[in-house]
Amino acid sequence: MFRYELLHVDQNCGARLGRLHTPRGVIELPTFMPVGTCGTVKGMTTDMVEATGSQILLGNTYHLHLRPGESVVKELGGLHKFMGWDKPILTDSGGFQVFSLAQRTVVDEQGATFRSHIDGSKITITPEISVQIQQDLGSDIAMVFDHVIELPSSREKVKDAMDRSIRWAERCRDAHTLESQVQFGILQGGLDESLRIECAKELRQLDFPGYAIGGLSVGEPPPEMYRIIEATTPHMPEDRPRYLMGVGRPEDLLQAVLRGVDMFDCVMPTRNGRNAMAFTDDGFLKMKNAIHERDPRPIQAGMHTPHAELSRGYIRHLFMAKEMLAGMLVSMHNIGYYQRLMTQAREAIAADRFLDFFEERMAGWAGGKS
Ligand code: GUN
Repeated sequence: MFRYELLHVDQNCGARLGRLHTPRGVIELPTFMPVGTCGTVKGMTTDMVEATGSQILLGNTYHLHLRPGESVVKELGGLHKFMGWDKPILTDSGGFQVFSLAQRTVVDEQGATFRSHIDGSKITITPEISVQIQQDLGSDIAMVFDHVIELPSSREKVKDAMDRSIRWAERCRDAHTLESQVQFGILQGGLDESLRIECAKELRQLDFPGYAIGGLSVGEPPPEMYRIIEATTPHMPEDRPRYLMGVGRPEDLLQAVLRGVDMFDCVMPTRNGRNAMAFTDDGFLKMKNAIHERDPRPIQAGMHTPHAELSRGYIRHLFMAKEMLAGMLVSMHNIGYYQRLMTQAREAIAADRFLDFFEERMAGWAGGKS
């Protein structure tokens, strides 16, 4: 029912072409998952999301638990029916949001207790509760509940959080009962290569059908993140999908694909889209800039997302007039841009020319202007 297929590894680097078979369809890898935190990819209908070529969405345990509550989602038919998306959904466990969004979070061996960022109410999420929420939501892929900490932190603190994440991963695995859902483990270990390798070895023993690299993109310089990915992927099972959580910019995706990562999620395309930043092969455009006023060109030539032919001048006008369509169109463009990048990456890997593609895109982004 759920199966990972490694189709090809580029002869010149670690980039992998693969396929994830799920009951709700096949996902071609590498892939990007748009973020639908609160049961919506912000500013986009699911038709729009589908038209960008997206194959799987991400949902959030933390947000949906706080509002509307998983019992509401379950009663209304599960998250797919609730939001009108019948392709696969991956839910994050809440581990990261408890660390980044919640207030006054206290973590002990049992779990995390914090105040809701919505109404200040006191909430506890344990590994078992996170598993239960994700089972009620009915996602296809659930993530284990992990202990995320800020970086930089002392090695001792990083190791404690990592060891706890490993113990929690085992509790999540033991609590998991839903047959139609699989659960991925999450590697922690901060910026310490030896801890990352230790964590990979420990989690391997727990035999998850997929593994994520967590705890990155939390403010460290990008080269540090690439170093950790490079040190970690050789210790992850070759026959399981690899997911880099919460990353990133287009160049971060290619840097990680180069090192053998298969899946990504990030709010950047939609958040930046709402803020008038559009991704192109020549860098990003700030769509409110006067330079676009009479520009008849599309944001990016060669896109297949709906309305990709609309002029830069028109998009700028929508932003200046504060029309809500502006953010919707650029969010759709940006997600479409990320999906086009992943499609091009897959084609390049199949032809053993990922490195050439990588160099070409990097040169374009480095030379671009807004
Ligand atoms: N999203 C981004 N990073 C992380 C992480 O380390 N853990 C979880 N659960 N989600 C994330």
